[in-house]
Amino acid sequence: GTGKFSYDPGYTATGSCKSKITYIDGEQGVLLHRGYPIDELAEQSDFLEVSYLLLHGELPNAAERDRFVNTITKHTMVHEQINYLYRGFRRDSHPMAVMIGVVGALAAFYHDTTDIDDAKQRMIASHRLIAKMPTFAAMAYKYSIGQPFVYPRNDLTYAENFLHMMFAVPCEDYQINPIHARAMDRLLILHADHEQNASTSTVRLAGSSGANPYACIAAGIATLWGPAHGGANEAVLQMLEEIGTVESISTFIGRAKDKDDPFRLMGFGHRVYKNYDPRATVMRETCHEVLDDLGLSDELLKIAMELERIALEDKYFVERKLYPNVDFYSGLILQALGIPTHLFTVIFALARTVGWVAQWNEMIEDPEQKIGRPRQLYTGPAQRSFVPLSERA
Ligand code: SDX
Repeated sequence: GTGKFSYDPGYTATGSCKSKITYIDGEQGVLLHRGYPIDELAEQSDFLEVSYLLLHGELPNAAERDRFVNTITKHTMVHEQINYLYRGFRRDSHPMAVMIGVVGALAAFYHDTTDIDDAKQRMIASHRLIAKMPTFAAMAYKYSIGQPFVYPRNDLTYAENFLHMMFAVPCEDYQINPIHARAMDRLLILHADHEQNASTSTVRLAGSSGANPYACIAAGIATLWGPAHGGANEAVLQMLEEIGTVESISTFIGRAKDKDDPFRLMGFGHRVYKNYDPRATVMRETCHEVLDDLGLSDELLKIAMELERIALEDKYFVERKLYPNVDFYSGLILQALGIPTHLFTVIFALARTVGWVAQWNEMIEDPEQKIGRPRQLYTGPAQRSFVPLSERA
């Protein structure tokens, strides 16, 4: 401690806020949203219902549910001017970079109509973000492959509409596979919120200054991009491809344990879970469902399963309580659904948008809320006198 404050790099022992949204018990591997266990939500609910729950605190009744679904679908279209923003990017841009740009640009479209002191306007901004993220994500993909943008279809569910905008082409009939839509919906539920992770903390910190919400969410997307956070699902696939065969796994396990080697097993370990990530359990089941449906016995999946088996038995991983996390399996599912690797973290971002806006609203409404302003331990030189250029060595 320093008297006035304590030094806590990475905030491993700092509670930054009070929250009623998500509860995690990392030792037991428990995750609850507004009190409901994540596996029950993933198996019995759907993404928009979970979104309502996260935003409003309770599951909706039938009328509230209908109203919410209608409100979200009403906002799925994006301003035509947004199309031109995409055209400013190179086609080979990483889609996370594109997302930071277009979501941040929403601040320019709606700044004058977003008074953050007005609860109604805050909710409209939240609905817009939840509704437009799939449209933005699919547009980033279509742009990258040189296909025309596909407009949203409001007769479809949230997950179905996303797959439609991703994979439909104007000249062909596109049928949505219900198993794929269900897997996508479940993946979105499992990524919707996770209390004060790095990107959510960023959104709260950005928002604590009273900044425009669209700009705050762009900051969250930027934070999520890193391979230690949301970028892990993309990194998992790259790692599995790098490993290449079941036979080379032991070499990579050796590298992961070597402190002089920067290589880490992507998709393993978690700051809070020192037990199985409960989301990973559901994700693993869904992963097998999808792969069974596609009749794939993917070599990458074999490597993944073997990696999981070894890591769960190996002393190094057992002692450090390094279990597979949610992103270990989500990458495999997304790959099976035909989603290109570069888009994995974008899909995480579209799911997490719900958590970000729920937490942002909670923060603004909190009477104890203050601007975020951490302190530091200064380790630079003590005060000294300026040296004129002619006297410097
Ligand atoms: C997400 O916070 C959230 O809630 C995040 C998230 C969400 O929903 O928002 O759950 C989403 O970001 C999941 C995490 C995805 N990241 C990865 O899969 C990347 C690989 N994992 C690691 O980089 C790491 O485990 C972190 C970043 C997830 C956690 O880092 P911590 O809490 O700072 O832990 P640490 O680095 O201090 O590790 C403790 C020990 C160290 O060994 P020792 O120095 O004690 O000997 O475990 C080792 C680490 O070297 N270790 C690993 C390892 N992860 C930690 N060794 C090999 N492979 C790994 N993956």
